[in-house]
Amino acid sequence: MFGLFTKLKKITEKYVILQSLKFQEMIKVNIEGCRPFVKAEEFEQYADKALDAFDVLQSEKGAGNDFLGWKTLPVDIPESLIKDCEAIREDWKKRGVNLVVVIGIGGSYLGARCAIEALSHQFLPQENAPRVVFAGNNLSEDYLAELMDLVKKSNAGCVVISKSGTTTEPAVAFRVVKTYLEETYKDAGKRIVAITDGAKGALKTLSVQEGYRSFVVPDNVGGRFSVLTPVGILPIVLAGFDIRAMLKGAADERESLIKRGKENAAVQYAAMRNLLYSSLGKKVEILACFNPRLQYLGEWLKQLFGESEGKEGKGIFPASVIFTTDLHSMGQFIQEGERVMFETTVSVEKVNRSVTIAFEEQNLDKLNYLAGEHVEHCNKMAQLGTKLAHMDGGVPQIEIGMEQVDEYNLGAVFYFFEFACGISAYMLGINPFNQPGVEAYKNNMFALLRKPGYEKQTEEILARL
Ligand code: PA5
Repeated sequence: MFGLFTKLKKITEKYVILQSLKFQEMIKVNIEGCRPFVKAEEFEQYADKALDAFDVLQSEKGAGNDFLGWKTLPVDIPESLIKDCEAIREDWKKRGVNLVVVIGIGGSYLGARCAIEALSHQFLPQENAPRVVFAGNNLSEDYLAELMDLVKKSNAGCVVISKSGTTTEPAVAFRVVKTYLEETYKDAGKRIVAITDGAKGALKTLSVQEGYRSFVVPDNVGGRFSVLTPVGILPIVLAGFDIRAMLKGAADERESLIKRGKENAAVQYAAMRNLLYSSLGKKVEILACFNPRLQYLGEWLKQLFGESEGKEGKGIFPASVIFTTDLHSMGQFIQEGERVMFETTVSVEKVNRSVTIAFEEQNLDKLNYLAGEHVEHCNKMAQLGTKLAHMDGGVPQIEIGMEQVDEYNLGAVFYFFEFACGISAYMLGINPFNQPGVEAYKNNMFALLRKPGYEKQTEEILARL
């Protein structure tokens, strides 16, 4: 009897340990949907290559190793920085600020937008927090004019973010917003916060001159890896979300990812996507979510992978879709078009809210077979059905699982993908942390705008037209 009790206790303990291990690995990878397309031995080879790339990333001896500050951000961010952000939130509350314009582009905006859109109510304003809108991420005059319609009807504050401090899009938007704030509010200087380089750049100079409160983008963190610096932290705090939970999620995920091994979720993901690309010619990765609040996760991921890997004539082209919405637009192509893609679905285990389908006597829509079911049950079955259909259509399937959409899990997702991206780009033999290609359009634009200093390029480009 006693023996049986001990045995049962051991089994229970083992179960508890297994459960807690399972819990530690917050972001889970399922590559089973690729198995029919790849040979097991080949995956093993790629997993070995991914481990080599993991070592390069962890030893910090690879290309771009002066941009690895993001790796320890979740444990490096001091409490004082968060407190400074909260102080601005409280100060703006006292000034009655009900609209925050976050100005920035690329890595200086996508992380914050992804987090805020994922966490916000999709229709109602966030309680006890200002509305957060984004600007400086395009050069559309209509956009800016309509933004100013809103600013003029609100009590506004502005966060301007540019690491270089010289990017045209945010500079143009900032000039428009700043001019209005200065003309309208005596305390305009207190309604502007700058996030930029610690020492150089036009924005740094201006913030010193005008006495703006400011935060530094660390030198060793590139834009697309900067969501857990003040670039993401301040907007997320101002929007009323729990940044400590987000950093904790990222720190816990870091803890599980720094363990070397083929079971490492980031190693598996990087290995499989490189195998699909190099061996099967799958040159497009469709990043899919079955939850519209994650639309901007797709945008953030496109920048992360696109800018990190798309170099030297190499790289997997990242595309993004929201399902089931886009099954009614892109579904046909994914099912039967050119067979160049694999699909990575970020799947969310639990929903935050509950809606069930009612029974109707008449049953004209023939939905009574679903009466009493949760809508998410339909979503999950759509997800499973899509996975199987796309596999039948020759599209390998990777699944990245997160528990639910909240600050903690989003922090984990950010860290997971940054880490996996580093491994993946090193596998391709690419420096993940530079972006030489983004200068080309800027040079042409400056030449066409006749920017001083570009006279020769202006002549050359006009001759081409
Ligand atoms: O990832 C990157 O480095 C880029 O997307 C930049 O973030 C983007 O170009 C904006 O640059 P900056 O912050 O210097 O204005």
